[in-house]
Amino acid sequence: MSVWASKISAQLTESNKFRKFAENEISFGPGVKSPGPKFFLLELEEIAVSSPILSLRGVNKSFGPVNVLKGVDFDTYAGKVTALVGDNGAGKSTLIKCIAGIYTPESGEFLFDGKKVEINGPRDATELGIEIVYQDLALCDNLDIVHNMFLGREQKKGRVLNETSMEALARKTLDGLSVRTVKSIRQTVASLSGGQRQTVAIARAVLWNSKVVILDEPTAALGVAQTEQVLNLVRRLADNGLAVVLISHNLNDVFEVADNIAALYLGQMAAQVEKKDVKPQQIIELITTGKSAGVSGVNA
Ligand SMILES: Nc1ncnc2c1ncn2[C@@H]1O[C@H](COP(=O)(O)OP(=O)(O)O)[C@@H](O)[C@H]1O
Ligand SMILES: [Mg+2]
Repeated sequence: MSVWASKISAQLTESNKFRKFAENEISFGPGVKSPGPKFFLLELEEIAVSSPILSLRGVNKSFGPVNVLKGVDFDTYAGKVTALVGDNGAGKSTLIKCIAGIYTPESGEFLFDGKKVEINGPRDATELGIEIVYQDLALCDNLDIVHNMFLGREQKKGRVLNETSMEALARKTLDGLSVRTVKSIRQTVASLSGGQRQTVAIARAVLWNSKVVILDEPTAALGVAQTEQVLNLVRRLADNGLAVVLISHNLNDVFEVADNIAALYLGQMAAQVEKKDVKPQQIIELITTGKSAGVSGVNA
């Protein structure tokens, strides 16, 4: 990216402003002129596609004397699946809990759509459109799919639940994700397979105009066929424009579905790279040693 493009990039806050910028003369202050609109249009389109929606910069998080996250940078992109990988204890869960507002880092910045934001609690994360599907899924077995999808955010008509509107929205969301494996959205979650439960938890997360969806090991407990279903769903979320973060131990899953890969090693971001630029062996090296020949990153 040229110096000009990065200057504009730094000034941009929303992607729909790109064209306006490109169509007009841009002034950077006295004596500093822009090289022309057409030039910008090309570069700006490139930036629009490649700008992160949620970025973390220099995030530090400790528990008492234990420094768990050390200056972590992490980027997520609309329309892309970002895999977050790392050995047990590398700090993956801690990182996503910082994003969710469950933990507050001691230092570091969060940028959303290029703007600095504060995430001081779960509500801040929700308001930004960040949703997390935790490993335990937190579904209620005795409730049906619709009620689970609206758990804690039920729609009411007067003093009673608005079953019709909730059912319609639940159905629309599942249809929008091309989920065809559940027979009835009025069946209890207890009657569902592991893959279907994961699907319900994911559909619940995308029901709320979410922009960033983080999935913690969604295929860990699933068999081959169900894993495939969930990975297809993960891909569709991104194809629908969401930024998806996929935590996974399974490099086959990662290489099947991710667009880029972020590898944490002992609380440091060893590297965040595009999948097309790396081989599985290099990711294994990043996970186990924090570096890999030919991969540029913090520790490479
Ligand atoms: N609440 C906590 N208090 C103290 N140490 C913690 C806490 N949560 C995580 N840790 C420590 O932080 C490190 C990273 O853990 P975690 O984020 O769960 O890693 P991962 O999800 O990559 O397996 C581990 O060494 C873990 O023991
Ligand atoms: Mg974890």
